[in-house]
Amino acid sequence: MPILTKTPPMGWNSWNTFGDNINEELVKGVADAFITHGLKEAGYEYIVIDDCWSEKSRDNNGRLLPDKNKFPSGMKSLSDYIHSKGLKFGIYSCVGTHTCAGFPGSFEHEFIDAVTFAEWGVDYLKYDYCYKPRFVAGEDLYRRMALALRNCGRDIVLSACNWGNDGVQKWIRGSGAHLYRSYGDIHDNWKSIETIMLTQLENACYGGIDCWNDMDMLVVGMGGKGDNEMVTSTGCSDTEYRSHFAIWAMMNSPLMLGCDVRNMTDETKAIITNKDVIAINQDEEGRGPYCIRQWNNLDNVFSLVKPLSGGDYAIAMINISDIKSEMSLQFYDMGLPALSGMGLEFYDCDKHENIGLFVERASIYIEPHECRIFRCKVKPV
Ligand code: GAL
Repeated sequence: MPILTKTPPMGWNSWNTFGDNINEELVKGVADAFITHGLKEAGYEYIVIDDCWSEKSRDNNGRLLPDKNKFPSGMKSLSDYIHSKGLKFGIYSCVGTHTCAGFPGSFEHEFIDAVTFAEWGVDYLKYDYCYKPRFVAGEDLYRRMALALRNCGRDIVLSACNWGNDGVQKWIRGSGAHLYRSYGDIHDNWKSIETIMLTQLENACYGGIDCWNDMDMLVVGMGGKGDNEMVTSTGCSDTEYRSHFAIWAMMNSPLMLGCDVRNMTDETKAIITNKDVIAINQDEEGRGPYCIRQWNNLDNVFSLVKPLSGGDYAIAMINISDIKSEMSLQFYDMGLPALSGMGLEFYDCDKHENIGLFVERASIYIEPHECRIFRCKVKPV
């Protein structure tokens, strides 16, 4: 099997904004928006239909059926449309007897479902964890679907979604899955973003090429709106959405958009198409970051440092407190002593300009809930 996810997948998923309110016109409209709003050009590729796309029962041959009211033209025709735009098509199922919303799951139907998905031109399967028989190990169920997909005649990315349960990060790569959800569902508010980030700092070492840590679909640009009350919430400020995007990028999480990409503000568009931030996420070495905390404000302020191919370093400085706070990154802590005669030139990935060559340390004041993200070069001083 070729490497399907050399870098974290980028795309859109229907769940965060639309929940069960999905249909073929929406999905086609999203594909169109990928082209007209420059999302494809920025690297977004997968269009994924989440839960609630099927009929409540299988057909007489045990096959899944698309809901005939939501998807009257069928899934093959929809995937043809998506492929005609040069994009890829994703769908959703579950390791259990039912999906989380109560539609048929793939338990004991893995092989027939994999073949059905291949016939429909599916390129990506999100595979959830609801209604799992209690005494069957999730590990076995992901192995089984991975094996079925690897032998269905089509290259299909397997996106595992067991919310970080059962020590998934330790066994998922061996199953053959290409990404794995590492925490529960995101909500459209800052607290949720912060919680997911803090739980995953220690797991940065468990992601990498062809098996990425998926911190969940992005809420950037949702702005408190949407039909899915399991995700919609107060919304975030643009600063918070910018931080969310930068943090997911630094952590090598897939960048799966969750807002209504057909109707975005200019600021949302600017955040999600930021080439400098995306380049950090898509760096070919795929190394996860390490964390250096501010020595006198350990709980609130820290830097993430991620080595990039070609010798550069991505550095993100994050302040989760409610007051403007200093982050002084001592270069010694990242392997650069002052006596080396070298410093770091900081390029600001939001302002798209160099902000200076720093020696020994960079002391920067970070606004509340802000993440400043830089691409740094090691240079003689
Ligand atoms: C959850 C999953 C969500 C969404 C939802 C659909 O288990 O984490 O991302 O897929 O199910 O019902």
